[in-house]
Amino acid sequence: MKTLTAAAALASVGGWAAAQEGGSGVEVLHWWTSGGEAAALNVLKEDLSGQSIGWNDMPVAGGGGEAAMTALRARVTAGNPPTAVQMLGFDIQDWAAEGALGNLNEVAAAEGWDAVVPAALQQFSKYEGNWIAAPVNVHSTNWVWANKAVLDELGIAQPTTWDELVAAMEAVEAAGKVALAHGGQAWQDATIFDGVVLSTGGPEFYKAAFIDLDPEALGSETMVQAFDRMSQLREFVDDNFSGRDWNLASAMVANGEAAFQIMGDWAKGEFKNAGLTPGEDILCFRMPGTEGAVTFNSDQFAMFNVTDETAVTNQAAMASAIMSPEFQVAFNTVKGSVPARTDVADTEFDACGKQGMADLAAAAEAGTLMGSMAHGHANRAAVKNAIYDVVTAHFNGEYDSQTAAEELVNAVEAAM
Ligand code: GAL
Repeated sequence: MKTLTAAAALASVGGWAAAQEGGSGVEVLHWWTSGGEAAALNVLKEDLSGQSIGWNDMPVAGGGGEAAMTALRARVTAGNPPTAVQMLGFDIQDWAAEGALGNLNEVAAAEGWDAVVPAALQQFSKYEGNWIAAPVNVHSTNWVWANKAVLDELGIAQPTTWDELVAAMEAVEAAGKVALAHGGQAWQDATIFDGVVLSTGGPEFYKAAFIDLDPEALGSETMVQAFDRMSQLREFVDDNFSGRDWNLASAMVANGEAAFQIMGDWAKGEFKNAGLTPGEDILCFRMPGTEGAVTFNSDQFAMFNVTDETAVTNQAAMASAIMSPEFQVAFNTVKGSVPARTDVADTEFDACGKQGMADLAAAAEAGTLMGSMAHGHANRAAVKNAIYDVVTAHFNGEYDSQTAAEELVNAVEAAM
């Protein structure tokens, strides 16, 4: 009874109250299973539970979400889609094109999402003018994380250029520590490649190669140089890097076994979860040479077509909860990301979060805010996976840099 009253009260002030007490309000498919991710997910679960929206958990482990997307396809094929699904960029658009997604226009209009969600995100949250997903955050991939105590101990200053980064890694390695904490998984290799390509060629080049898929850029001398830089980085990973999960690589930086990790700011969620202070214990800086530009990805909850009216109401209630400014602060300060709304203050965010928010706004203004290739915001999954294959094959020594650039042209052409 108590919850019903609360729901009625919410509805009476114009909120999007859940349609039922507790129980199976929403079934949520996601890949947030690491310590930091789970802590952030808990913020969402608790927020919804406070609004009497029940939570039916469908976690599919695997950084970057590839396994989750495979599980999703199986569920939809079986005619049993989950109500809400964590999803990235072009995947949202692909499902919308298949007619699989529901419509959030009513709640979006009532709450004025059009005015507060940046255009770069709306291009993924909307399909043919209709809201189909609610963005929960903005992450970016061109970050480097460093254990400050390790750098201090070795007298290494925060690198400001590519050469300084390489010199710093050499010094760490010479001191017997792991220079670059990395997990050999295709999506992690590709995440590093986002920043390396941006650093090597600049924003125009990144755009030409990954967003416009211009064969000249893909096969260019600049791309060969970017692959050469990947080979340089390859020298700094430890012998056990193959297959390692990204959060275990973060843990190596957190506990001082390694100095650096090149990873999206979900790594910050791990550092916070380990009790470290970003900006103090853990330094955050943009991949040298990428300052002023941001390669972003936004986690959104896409709502699948469900026929049950209660389920539809719960979807709107969940979307409304996600879009509330208070929730965006509570969630993103834990997740490592920044808000998906432009009207949220940075007060509650740590130093790296404040920088993330400022960088995002500046890049949007300068036209250097670009979708992450590695995280499905530059092109569709088929193209993304084709790029993954080449980057990983090169990282593992199957191609030299010249061959890799040529293969990149071929692989992208075949996948388009
Ligand atoms: C990204 C996602 C992040 C984080 C990361 C590692 O694709 O946007 O939220 O979870 O994968 O799993």
